[in-house]
Amino acid sequence: MDLLGWYDQNRRVFAFRGTRDPYRVWVSEIMLQQTRTETAEGYYIRFLELFPDVSALARAPEEQVLKAWEGLGYYSRARNLHKAAKIVAERGGVFPHTAAELAALPGIGPYTAAAIASIAFDEPVPAMDGNLSRVLSRLHLVDEDITVPSVRRRLYELGRALMPERRASDVNQALMDLGATICLPGTPDCPACPLRRHCRAFAEGEPEALPLMPQKKPPKEVPLAVVLLRRGGSIFVTRRNEALLKGLYVYLLIENAQSPEDVLKRLKALGVRPAAFKEIGQARHVFTHRVWQMRIYLADVPDGEAPAEGLWVSAEGMDALPFPTAMRAAKALAKEQLQGQRIGAQKRSE
Ligand code: ADE
Repeated sequence: MDLLGWYDQNRRVFAFRGTRDPYRVWVSEIMLQQTRTETAEGYYIRFLELFPDVSALARAPEEQVLKAWEGLGYYSRARNLHKAAKIVAERGGVFPHTAAELAALPGIGPYTAAAIASIAFDEPVPAMDGNLSRVLSRLHLVDEDITVPSVRRRLYELGRALMPERRASDVNQALMDLGATICLPGTPDCPACPLRRHCRAFAEGEPEALPLMPQKKPPKEVPLAVVLLRRGGSIFVTRRNEALLKGLYVYLLIENAQSPEDVLKRLKALGVRPAAFKEIGQARHVFTHRVWQMRIYLADVPDGEAPAEGLWVSAEGMDALPFPTAMRAAKALAKEQLQGQRIGAQKRSE
């Protein structure tokens, strides 16, 4: 077959590809859900050093798992990984062998279930994601909106028809590599494609026009005050309970504060009246559905004044806790402040 011949010669080599152990495949596929392969690879290696098997992961405290995930984003992946590890460990460490059973575990959707079942157990199920949808829509000239359920079902059937009885692992990963290196969104490299002789979009002359998708709404801009409450050698941090960044640590966050006066008013409502207060920086962090436009404030507070839920930590204490990348600029400023360095307002973006 053209595709497997191409894959045998051109496959990308990654640390996570050297195994069919379902635990390892599972960890890698969860990481790869929303993370680029090159980034995931480093995290994958470190994660497996910390948690070499499913029972080690199941035994670990959630905070340690989140710390190992720090910087990867989409932290519900780590929390679900941990939950699923406990379930699998309770069943004697045996992973389900089929995509249908794998999809019953927390954090495993249809794509990941198919990826794990095919890679670890060679089940002939297509790992359907945006990349494979693009490849298939071009191959079969599907010129309808690929987000519409009936079109998605059709693409799934086309994907299933590509699955061989043997080497489903390689076919899925070949399709991933094709989507990542040749059948690219705006600029497909058709002359290099092993499937071009079969590709209807190539024959019609406009593969870059596919797939068809509706325009995405831009993420909502949210003004956010990040307040570094300082008391002696410590800064106040709190563990998030909200769905976004749940379980991670952040400084005191105040949404939709329009001015420094506004921030002070909101602090007062929390029982905090700073002895000194100033803006020391700005930052911006883009999530999938929202953008945090952050203004970072330093507030020196008298002993005894603190919002109810949280803890006071030193610079080393901060490093031991899992923080999201959205707090990177604020964390750097917090550490500088704890070292007593003078800093002016500075603009940071990520
Ligand atoms: N993306 C998701 N899973 C992958 C895999 N196994 N290889 C390369 N890219 C991937």
